[in-house]
Amino acid sequence: MTARARTAILISGRGSNMTALIAAAKDTAYPAEIALVLSNRPDAGGLQRAAADGIATAVVDHKAHPDREAFEREVDAVLTAHRIDIVCLAGFMRILTPWFITRWEGRLINIHPSLLPDYKGLHTHARALADRVPRHGCTVHFVVPELDAGPTIAQASVPVLPGDDEATLAARVLEQEHRVYPAALADVASGRVRLVEGQVADDRPAEYARFLAG
Ligand code: GAR
Repeated sequence: MTARARTAILISGRGSNMTALIAAAKDTAYPAEIALVLSNRPDAGGLQRAAADGIATAVVDHKAHPDREAFEREVDAVLTAHRIDIVCLAGFMRILTPWFITRWEGRLINIHPSLLPDYKGLHTHARALADRVPRHGCTVHFVVPELDAGPTIAQASVPVLPGDDEATLAARVLEQEHRVYPAALADVASGRVRLVEGQVADDRPAEYARFLAG
């Protein structure tokens, strides 16, 4: 049996995507194991949930570091100490520098609550509603130095319904996030999807990509 990829999940808040990844990795046939949950906020709700699941947790408080670089060097040291192979950002609300991103290139993925390249940045649901778009969704992508611009691994879309507000639309998208993120991590951990010279090399069958599209 090949070793499962040792995966760290970086969070800043409640960690519902983290919980979906932990649940998927409970299956021993899943190609990644969750070896660490790390938060930049000591009060992140997800930390307690991860610990209750018997997963190692760490806090690297960005406020306790003089600058972004010192913070990231500490995060990197903790990841290295835990022999991490893949890093999943899951509601991790710190912008990472090119130094960190380059170090983890091809092994660093993120989930973003929009159909990228639409609605990079914050307040994605409110902006989608203001534009009256018919569909909205989420994207898992490799992280590159430009914010929310990395190559897409998986996306899922949902309809925007009459009467939706930010909360109802966010909930509909979140349900898809919890489906798509575990599938995308499995694809990266198994090597079916790779970052090669800035592009996604994809060995998945075409039907599978359609399944992810929802
Ligand atoms: C998720 O909707 C995720 O896509 C988003 O934060 C939420 C975290 O929820 N991420 C970003 O906005 C990143 N820019 P969770 O803590 O319950 O997973």
